[in-house]
Amino acid sequence: MKDILQELEERRAAARAGGGLRRVEAQHAKGKLTARERVELLLDEGSFEEFDMFVAHRCTDFGMEADRPAGDGVVTGWGTINGRMLYVFSQDFTVFGGSLSETHAQKICKIMDMAIQNGAPVIGINDSGGARIQEGVASLAGYAEVFQRNVLASGVVPQISLIMGPCAGGAVYSPAMTDFIFMVKDSSYMFVTGPDVVKTVTNEVVTAEELGGAATHTRKSSVADGAYENDIEMLAEARRLIDFLPLNNRQKAPVRPFFDDPARLEASLDTLIPDNPNQPYDMKELILKVADEGDFFEIQRDFAGNIITGFIRIEGQTVGVVANQPMVLAGCLDIDSSRKAARFVRFCDAFEIPILTFVDVPGFLPGVAQELGGVIKHGAKLLFAYGEATVPKVTVITRKAYGGAYDVMASKHLRGDFNYAWPTAEIAVMGAKGAVEILYRSELGDKDKIAARVADYEERFANPFVAAEKGFVDEVIRPHSTRKRVARAFASLRGKKLANPWKKHDNIPL
Ligand code: HXC
Repeated sequence: MKDILQELEERRAAARAGGGLRRVEAQHAKGKLTARERVELLLDEGSFEEFDMFVAHRCTDFGMEADRPAGDGVVTGWGTINGRMLYVFSQDFTVFGGSLSETHAQKICKIMDMAIQNGAPVIGINDSGGARIQEGVASLAGYAEVFQRNVLASGVVPQISLIMGPCAGGAVYSPAMTDFIFMVKDSSYMFVTGPDVVKTVTNEVVTAEELGGAATHTRKSSVADGAYENDIEMLAEARRLIDFLPLNNRQKAPVRPFFDDPARLEASLDTLIPDNPNQPYDMKELILKVADEGDFFEIQRDFAGNIITGFIRIEGQTVGVVANQPMVLAGCLDIDSSRKAARFVRFCDAFEIPILTFVDVPGFLPGVAQELGGVIKHGAKLLFAYGEATVPKVTVITRKAYGGAYDVMASKHLRGDFNYAWPTAEIAVMGAKGAVEILYRSELGDKDKIAARVADYEERFANPFVAAEKGFVDEVIRPHSTRKRVARAFASLRGKKLANPWKKHDNIPL
């Protein structure tokens, strides 16, 4: 018995050593933590239970039978974050560069199957040279098995990908199908074909960082949802995100203790809207003042700044926020902002997270690039996402709600449950100047006449009351009481039950 215990300890120690001291030091020298260090920082102390620590590959080509490290380049198992269970896999770059073999894939698939069956999120830590070159098609098959499970898990359990090293080739498609992707600045990259192939095929010269670094994917491509300074900051933020989310699609998000009065009044909001309708203001101020303790977890902060998306809590309950941002492109909807917000709304709806929408939108962004880029189809995504969402929806129009964008932004007509407007709201087909120029084209030469027409239009339509008279706005509320009104609205909706007609699945314009 003593001998066998001794052997167990020795085998465990060998598995924990990964690719050995030299490679661990190389990993640290790059500013990266090891696979196990990451798991330890991500999970509650002492909560990690490992699976398949002794699994080794079965490859016999290229002399691989002589080198069969325990664990095969990925650490898998389950643990807790603030007491709530989740599954995790963490690729170990010190073992064959974290490359994915048949058995490495089987380990990942095992925990994904358990996550789907037991209703707990999956966090995947990616740090890998891609397909294990020595294994050929067996490795490709392994990837496809993982992809299939990403699809099946989508909308069932939250899936989060942490890119903490290379993630290239077809390997990118597993993270791409998960709900959120975080990247570490300067030490992670994602691309389908790397700089060398790009140079050969298109003669473009580009660095790995430019092609697929954190800045590229959080600012330009929108593949990733957040960029962090280093491994430690990212792991801490992943813990913070998990705290907002339910464990699966059959449970509600956790209710956290809160120390912020839901009826708190914010006098400063009464002066948030500038007198000049063309002057911007920071919509984030409203979000922070409505949120419990001003805590806001923003998603895709660096992309399509004309719309803000992220999570807050109200009375301790998670709420997804979508808000037009007048500081960027006057808060217009465009291709990027529609795609960004649509995906966020769909995530919230899939996981029963209520949606709060703040509206100040002058319309869709005009332009040839927008039309040729398919703003019709992309704008429809957001319209579709709001229209299909059955979670509680509370909307507050702070200022402009013009044209089709009024309809899109969680209007009453898209089954908004509570549609509030501030007294400063202007709900109309378009702004006064544009309207007058169309209606009174023959008078355009007469400045005084046109000014009078604009004033008349503003008087009649640049307010919330026309919509309120029709019941399209449920109530005109004072800005300072927004948190209180929104909190009461969501509280009244806790028992909401709404189902869409049966269908296999919808056909959202992709
Ligand atoms: C086997 C690999 C490997 C791989 C790296 N290693 N990638 N072993 N299969 N794919 C091994 C190296 O031999 C080395 O072993 C160790 O990992 C570290 O690699 P280095 O090259 O020394 O590290 P670094 O200089 O940091 O470069 C990292 C890298 C590079 C950029 C990822 O290793 C690289 O280009 N690897 C190949 C990437 C690739 O082409 N993968 C296949 C892509 S196709 P030792 O023993 O020296 O420590 C693909 C298709 C997926 O992934 C399809 C899914 C549908």
